[in-house]
Formats: sequence, C-alpha cells, structure tokens
Amino acid sequence: MTIKNNIPLKPFNTFGIDVNASQFAAINSVEDLKDVLNTNPSDILILGGGSNILLTKDVDALVLQINLKGIRVLSELENRVQIEVAAGENWHEFVCWCLKENFGGLENLSLIPGNVGTAPIQNIGAYGVELKDSFVSCEALHIQTKELKVFTKEDCNFGYRNSIFKQELKGQYIITSVVFELSSQHHILKTNYGAIESKLENTGIKTPTIQDVSKAVISIRNSKLPDPKIIGNSGSFFKNPVVSASKFQILQSQFQLIPHYNVSEDSIKIPAAWLIDTAGFKGKTFGNFGVHTKQALVLVNYGGASGKDILTLSLQIQKAVKLIFDIDLETEVNIL
Ligand code: EPU
Repeated sequence: MTIKNNIPLKPFNTFGIDVNASQFAAINSVEDLKDVLNTNPSDILILGGGSNILLTKDVDALVLQINLKGIRVLSELENRVQIEVAAGENWHEFVCWCLKENFGGLENLSLIPGNVGTAPIQNIGAYGVELKDSFVSCEALHIQTKELKVFTKEDCNFGYRNSIFKQELKGQYIITSVVFELSSQHHILKTNYGAIESKLENTGIKTPTIQDVSKAVISIRNSKLPDPKIIGNSGSFFKNPVVSASKFQILQSQFQLIPHYNVSEDSIKIPAAWLIDTAGFKGKTFGNFGVHTKQALVLVNYGGASGKDILTLSLQIQKAVKLIFDIDLETEVNIL
C-alpha cells in the first residue's frame, strides 16, 4: 500500500468534479487499512463509489479508496441464504451476482451507483425496498482504536436514508464488510410500486421472476436517471421532506395536486422532485450544469462544472422551495 500525493479525484466521484486530494491511498485489505491508519493521518476521507458526495474544494486529507473485494456464502438454510460481501464490491455488480445465483431480495435495488460498504451508511433504497430489509450485520474498523466491531441491524438504527453511521458514529468507523440474508427460493417480490407494476404489465409478464423485476427497475431508472458515466450526478440530491398533517393540509389547500405518501398518522412525505419541478427548476441549465430534464431531484454536471457551481444551484433551489412551500429541503448528498 502506497500513499500518493496530489491525486486528481475526478475519476473517483460520480459528479465528475475535478479537484485534487493532498494524499491518496488505495486500500486492498483490512491490514492495509490498519497500516495506513497507523501513520496517524491528521484527516481522512473515505471514498466508496464516490456516488453520494459533492466535492466543493480540493481535499486536504488522506483519501482512502476502499477496494476490499470478495463475496462469500456464509450459510444456506432451507430457502434462506446469508452472504458476506466486502465493502469495495460494486453494489450493482453484487446485485447482478445475486440474480445469477437466483438469490432474491435486492432486485429492486438494481443499478444504484456506489459500493457495498457505503450502502448501509445511508440505507440505500428504491422502489419500495431499502437495504435494511435484507441487512443482517456489518463489520467496521474503528478509526481511532483500529479494532473491528460487528454492528447488528438494531445497532445501525436505520431510517430513511439514514443510519448511526450518519449520526452518532459519523466519521468514526470504516465499514469493511456487510452480511445480507436473501431468499434462495420462494422469493417474495415487491412489485406494488406503481412504475414496476405497469412496466411488468406492459411487457406481458404474468408471473415475474426476481430477474424480471430487476430488468423492470433498470429500465425505469434508465428512463429517468442519468448514467453517471455519461452525465455527472449523484442521484437524488435532496431527501424527500416529511411534514406534519396540519402543514400538509395548508399545502394541499394551495396546491390541490400535491403528490404525497402517508408515513404515519401525523407525518406525510412529499416528493422533493415535485417541489423542485413546481418551483420551475426542472431541466434548467446554467452553462455546464443544471437540473436533470427527466428528474427534478437530480442535479447534473454536463462537464467541467465545479462543486461550488452545483452547491450554489442547490442553495438556490432550497431558497425557492422554502419561499414557495415553506419547506426546508435537506441534502441527501454529502457536501465537502
Ligand atoms: N416528480 C415530479 N417531477 C419530477 C420527478 C418526479 O413532479 O421531475 C414527482 C412525481 O409525482 C413522482 C414523484 O415525484 O410520482 C416521485 O418521483 P420518483 O418516483 O421518481 O421518486 P423520488 O421520490 O423522486 C425516490 C428516491 C430515489 C429512488 C426512487 C424510486 C429519494 C430522495 N429518492 O425518488 O432514490 O430511486 O424514489 O424509489 O428518496 C437516490 O436516493 O439517489 C435515488 C435515486
């Protein structure tokens, strides 16, 4: 393992922001990780797939690219299987491996950018499924003590795009592997998310397999979300806000068509995409950056934009949404 100086981070973040890291090391084993931490770096930044980060300036820290690899079946019992996956495995490639082995549970999470090790941090989710639904535990290295610790699902305190690793333990641990429990037969499909149902109906599939669900999800995602290899982006830039029932009533009296989902009796989730769209930002471009034409929740770098450009746009959006709807949009992406 070598520590390199002054390394461009453009290839390592899906927004394609061109900034440099003062120091950079690729981590291929847990031993590498311990060694590099033993050099007592003053500041570190962990890069998984670089798919949930906006870099607004050069990074004056040791950037660790987690390349830990390996997928291992731990146990197979009746129709359940437990699989341990190293943190550096690409998320979608892992989902494809599961589908090839006919292991079910992650098909709705097809094509999400990023790596396995960063997926629990924000409890990735899509089309009615979240990582926590198949998560058993993860192993993580404590940055200060260099000790490995196992976190159960309960320990992780998962919420909507949230976990203990984004809250109390932020910046304290590096996830090295994750254990999932999946079905090996009698798969339970989650196809009740509107777009999946209609996609399957359109293709004439009556008894879909997990592979069919994955194909439907991939097709829906491809129709709305830009491929980061072509247009720089980080998926949803903001979280969908949750408001109280009384607040929602006021909004609904002004905006009759406001889409919403009930989270509990007194909390209602509103799609941030609709708020941004209604505020007039969808498809807006400002030179080489802007708001995606097909999904207002996705900010895009058409090439050469700086992180500050995107940040300024995000602040403008937050200001407009606050002014029109009196709602504070929270970012989903980590801004650095
Ligand atoms: N909508 C608009 N304008 C748009 C896009 C959407 O008005 O430009 C409205 C529509 O009413 C639509 C609703 O917003 O029905 C919801 O849109 P969509 O189904 O595309 O989902 P989303 O709430 O915008 C969330 C996740 C996505 C995930 C999809 C599908 C968050 C922040 N985002 O998006 O996750 O793929 O649902 O489950 O929860 C990500 O986290 O990076 C991500 C892409």
